[in-house]
Amino acid sequence: MRVLIIGCGSIGNVLAKAAQGMGQIDLIYFTDKSAHRAEARVREYSKGRLARYDDEGIAKVIKEVDLVIEAASQEAARKFAPMCLERGRDIMVMSVGAFYDDDFRERCFRLAGAKRARLYIPSGAVCGTDGLRSAHGRIDEVHLITTKGPNGFKDVPYLEEKGIDVSKLKEPMVLFEGSAREAVRLFPRNVNVAATVSLMGVGFDHTKVTIVCDPRAEVNSHRLVARGEFGELTSEIHNVPSPENPATSYLAALSAVSALKSIATNVWVGV
Ligand SMILES: NC(=O)c1ccc[n+]([C@@H]2O[C@H](COP(=O)([O-])OP(=O)(O)OC[C@H]3O[C@@H](n4cnc5c(N)ncnc54)[C@H](O)[C@@H]3O)[C@@H](O)[C@H]2O)c1
Repeated sequence: MRVLIIGCGSIGNVLAKAAQGMGQIDLIYFTDKSAHRAEARVREYSKGRLARYDDEGIAKVIKEVDLVIEAASQEAARKFAPMCLERGRDIMVMSVGAFYDDDFRERCFRLAGAKRARLYIPSGAVCGTDGLRSAHGRIDEVHLITTKGPNGFKDVPYLEEKGIDVSKLKEPMVLFEGSAREAVRLFPRNVNVAATVSLMGVGFDHTKVTIVCDPRAEVNSHRLVARGEFGELTSEIHNVPSPENPATSYLAALSAVSALKSIATNVWVGV
């Protein structure tokens, strides 16, 4: 099996290490808008090959691989997901926040069906998504409560407008309560978890999100509560930041590795 990893940052590197060790994977193509990052990965891994970062270079490699993995940015997801799906190529998307755009999401989902190409969206930094997936269509309410320390709320224009300086907090403070759609608009850094939960549950308009800043928090926590015909689900995760990128939870990279293992071995447990 051959894979192309778009984005050689914290998630891309954890994936590359795992892919290098998987017997089912023969070649790992790397590409990144920063060419030196991709070149460094090619030097680091014996299965590594370079994919030139331009439309022609990437289109050529998309033809040669079995799976493309986007681990770069929403901008990259918006460009490469349709490019792969239109060509019937399977793609795993980590920048799941891109699916907040209704037109883009519908286009990608339609293409996946029409072209028989698989679109994989790993659970990322949140847990409990297995229950949401099973209960889909039978869920009345979903509530996501995200708690982070002040570092998780740097450069949020909404807080500046409201005159809230989280670095001065002595006690936990609820910064936001509302729909996932509004949360994603006001707190773009929380976009991935809110998007994943919305996609699996009751959508962006009906998913309730509470965002809390706790001055003592050292990890990023997500509490997920869902109720419906199936019963009630509560899950909680306290995420350690990724060693390379503190903005990314390590579990997000591990969820991509787990999805890649299932794809490579064709064995899916817990689906
Ligand atoms: N699904 C989840 O729960 C979850 C959790 C954390 C992060 N993410 C998302 O996954 C993505 C990768 O995260 P990361 O921590 O590895 O980021 P990172 O910043 O460590 O690495 C991103 C890499 O992608 C490259 N890149 C950025 N835009 C690009 C583009 N348009 N084309 C090609 N390369 C590009 C950058 O140069 C960088 O090397 C981000 O979009 C992040 O928001 C998702």
